[in-house]
Amino acid sequence: MTNIIEIWLENRRDGTTIGIGEAEPRISFVADAVASAFEAEFTADDGTTRIERIVTTQHVPWPFAPLAPRAGGELRIRAVGSEIWSEPMRIEAGLGDDWRVDFVSPSVAAGRDAPRPAYLLRAVVDEGTLPEGIVRARIHSTAHGVYELEVNGGRIGDDVLAPGWTSYTHRLRYQTHDVTAALRKGENVIGAWLADGWYRGHIGFDGGVWDIYGADVALLAQFEVTTADGATHHVPLEWTTAPSPITEVGLYEGETFDARLAQIGWSAAGFDASGWSPAATLRRTDFPAEIEPPTALPVQETQVLRPVSITRQQSGRIRLDFGQNISGVLRIRLRADAGHTVTLHHAEVIENGELGIRPLRAATSVDTYTAAGNGEEIYTPRFTIHGFQYAELENWPGELHEGDVEAVVIHTGMRRTGWFESSNDGLDRLHSNVVWSMRDNFVDLPTDCPQRDERVGWTGDIQVFAPTALRLFAAHGTLTGWLRDLAFEQADQGHVPNFVPWVECGFPNFPTAAWGDAAVIVPWEMYRNDGDLRILADQYASMRAWVDLVDGLTGHTGLWNSGFQLGDWLDPTAPPEDPGKSHTDKYLVATAYHVRTARIVADAAMLLGQEGDAVRYRSIAERAVRAFQDEFLSDSGRVVSDTPTSLAVALVFELFENEEQVRRAGARLQELVGAGGFHISTGFVGTPIICDALVRAGSMDYAYHLLLQDELPSWLYPVSMGATTIWERWDSMLPDGSINPGDMTSFNHYALGAVADFLHRAVAGLAADAPGWERIRFEPRPGGGLTRASARYDSVRGSAAISWERDGESMSISLEVPAASTGFLVLPGSTEQIPVGPGLHSFTTTFRSVDDDPERPFFGWRRPEPVLENEGAA
Ligand code: BGC
Repeated sequence: MTNIIEIWLENRRDGTTIGIGEAEPRISFVADAVASAFEAEFTADDGTTRIERIVTTQHVPWPFAPLAPRAGGELRIRAVGSEIWSEPMRIEAGLGDDWRVDFVSPSVAAGRDAPRPAYLLRAVVDEGTLPEGIVRARIHSTAHGVYELEVNGGRIGDDVLAPGWTSYTHRLRYQTHDVTAALRKGENVIGAWLADGWYRGHIGFDGGVWDIYGADVALLAQFEVTTADGATHHVPLEWTTAPSPITEVGLYEGETFDARLAQIGWSAAGFDASGWSPAATLRRTDFPAEIEPPTALPVQETQVLRPVSITRQQSGRIRLDFGQNISGVLRIRLRADAGHTVTLHHAEVIENGELGIRPLRAATSVDTYTAAGNGEEIYTPRFTIHGFQYAELENWPGELHEGDVEAVVIHTGMRRTGWFESSNDGLDRLHSNVVWSMRDNFVDLPTDCPQRDERVGWTGDIQVFAPTALRLFAAHGTLTGWLRDLAFEQADQGHVPNFVPWVECGFPNFPTAAWGDAAVIVPWEMYRNDGDLRILADQYASMRAWVDLVDGLTGHTGLWNSGFQLGDWLDPTAPPEDPGKSHTDKYLVATAYHVRTARIVADAAMLLGQEGDAVRYRSIAERAVRAFQDEFLSDSGRVVSDTPTSLAVALVFELFENEEQVRRAGARLQELVGAGGFHISTGFVGTPIICDALVRAGSMDYAYHLLLQDELPSWLYPVSMGATTIWERWDSMLPDGSINPGDMTSFNHYALGAVADFLHRAVAGLAADAPGWERIRFEPRPGGGLTRASARYDSVRGSAAISWERDGESMSISLEVPAASTGFLVLPGSTEQIPVGPGLHSFTTTFRSVDDDPERPFFGWRRPEPVLENEGAA
C-alpha cells in the first residue's frame, strides 16, 4: 500500500499555504512507495469536489481550474488503487488586487538626526459589527517599513521583518494571516507594531542612505470575514496611533526598548486608548508599487541556540559564545528594578580578547533593554537583526541563569533539500559552514553578508552561489521574487545594477560582468534545477536585455574590453585594500561571461519556442567566442593572464577551438595549481569552478589536493581556525588571530562556499543529467584519502541519493533513484554508463585510488616542487 507522507505546494507545507500568489500552484509530494499514478482531490470552499489523475510523484502542474482571488479548499492525494488519502491540505489564494483600504500612518516625516522609534497602531471592531456565523477571518496586510500584527492581545503569524525588502518603488508584498481563532465575542482589537526597516531606514555602505523609498511609515491592512453562506464581508477599520516602547531602532543599529513605556493590553479589548491620536490616511493609489503576494515563505525564527560558553569579563560584561555564527537576535529573560538598562553587544569574532566589531563598520548592532521592574521580563528585539556568534551583556542584573539568554536564528523559511557527508571532518565542517552562510544570508533576499552596513543583494555573489543554493534549500521562491526586482531595477538603470534592490550609495553603477550576468545565470540554474520553464518565460525579457546590452558595449564585436569591472574579485593575490586587483585580466573574464550568457539565452529561446531569437543569440555567442579566442588564446592553448582563473574559465565555459588546446590548457592548469602548493589563487569567478576545471583537465586528484589543503589560502584554513560560516576573504582572520586589515572583511559570505555543489556532484557523485532531475548521473570519484561520502537531494521528482564506501580496494556504492527519474552509474575509472531505474541499487567494485600510489604527490604528503614549465607568456 502506498501512503503519501508529505505534500508541498510551491515548496510550502500545510499551514503556510494561505494567501499564495499562484493561481495554479505546483504540487509536490512524497510517497512511501512507488505507484504508477496518483489522484489529487480538491474540495473547494463552495463544496464542489474534483478528482484528477496525476502521473508523476513530484512537481505536478495544478490539475484543477485556476484559483480565483480568495478562493480556497482542501487538497488530498492518494495512489491509484489505494483507499487511503493523505491528510488534507488547506490552500487559499491571496487577495488579487481587490484592495479596498488605504495606508494608515503614524509618521509621515522622519527627522534626519532624530531617533527613529517604532509606533503602535490600533483599530477597534465594535461589538455587533461582525456578522454571525464566521467560518474564516483574514487580515491581508503590508507596510511601508516593517511590521508585526496582534489581535486581541496575541501575536499574529510568525513573520519577522515583514514585508521584507523588495524594490519598493515597484513591488510591495503583502501577507495573509488567518485570524479566525483569535476573534472573540464582543469587541475585537487589531494592533500593529511599525518601524522604519528598509523602507525608511538606513541602508547601504559608505555612509549609506536614509529614507530612500519615502518619508512615511505606514500600514495597509484589510480585514475580511467569511460567513457560512460563503459571503465575504469587508470590515472597515479606523486606526489610532501611539508611541511604542521601542524608542529607537534600525536594522543596522539595533533596538532600544524601554519596558517602562509598555502599554499593557494595548491590542486587547477594554484598553483605554483615549490618549491615542488618529492615524493619518495615505491614499494607496498615491504610491507606485504593485501590491503583490509573496513568492516565498517569510523570514522566521528558525532555531534557538544556547550559549556554549559564558564568561565574565574584567569589564563586568558577560560574554556568550553561541558556537555558531548566525543571523538573528538575542532573547533575554531577566528580573531587574524599573529603569535598569541592559546593553547587548554583538560580534562575529573575538580579536585581542575583545569583541571584533571593526568589520561591522557603521552597523553598530547594539540593543538596549530598560526593565519595567515587574518580575520576570522577556525581551526579543523585533525590528533589527545582527550577524554574530558572540554577544556581551553589559550591566546584567545579578547572576546569569541557564536559559536566561538564547540566540534566535532568523532567516527565510526554506525547505532543506540537500545533504552531504564524508569521512573527512574538515570537508563536513566546510559543508556545514556553507549551509549556515546560506541560511544567514537568505534573509528575505540573497545578500552578501548579514552583519556589516551592507547586507544587500549583490548580483555576483548569488550568480556564483545559485547552483549550491538550489541544491541545499528550495530557494526558488526567494530567487523568483528577487529576479522580479532585478528586472525592474534593470529597466530603471538601463543595465543590471551590481546589487538588487539598487541603492544609490556611491558604488559604481555600471554594467559589470559576472555580477550583471546573474540576470541570465540565476534563472537558468533554477530551470536546470526544477525543469520548470516558467522562470525562463518570466525572466526572458530581462535575460535578453542583459545580453543585448553587453553586445552593444562590445560594439557588436563580442569583445568586452572597456569600462568598469570587478573581475576575479578577491583573488587572494590582490592587496587587502584593493580586492579587484586580480592577476586575471578583467576583460578576459568579461568576454568569457558574455559568451556564456549569450549561449544560455540562445538555449532558453529554443526552449521557449523563440527560434528567431535562438539564431540571433547563437550568433552573438559565436562572435564573442571568436573574439575571446582572438584576443585571449594562443593556438597552442595558452590563455592570457596564465592564471588558474583564466584557464578555469576557458575550460569550464568551453571557449577553446579544439581538444588539443583543451589538453594543453588542462595540463597548464595542473601545473599552476601544483606549483602554487595547492593553495587557492582564485577569486569570486575562479573559485566556484576551479575544481570542475581540474576534473575537466583530467585530475580529480588535484581537485582533492585543493579541497583538502588547510594552509592559507584554502577552503579548510578557515575551518582550521574554527570558522562556522564561510568567510568573505580566505584570511578574514589571519593566523595570529587578528582580523584582516581590509575594511571589507566579513566572516559570513557564501560566495566562496559555491564549492559545496562540487562536493555533492563530484565527491559524492550525485548530479542531474537533465533539467529537473529527469535523468541522474551517479559518478562517485573517490580520492583524497576519503573512505566514504554520501549525498542526498530531494529533487522535484523525489529523493535521489548516493553513498559510497571504500575498504582497501573494495568499494561499495548504494544509489536511490526517484520514482519519476531514470539514471546511470559511472564507476570510478570507467566511462561506461550503467543504467539504473527507480528504486534502490547496490554495487560493489574494486578501485585503487591514485592517492594510494607512492609515486603521486599526495596524502602523506609531499609538496610538489614549484617548477613552472616556462613557455613564455602567451
Ligand atoms: C560585497 C561583495 C560584492 C562586492 C563587489 C562587497 O562589498 O560584500 O560580496 O560582490 O562588494 O564589489
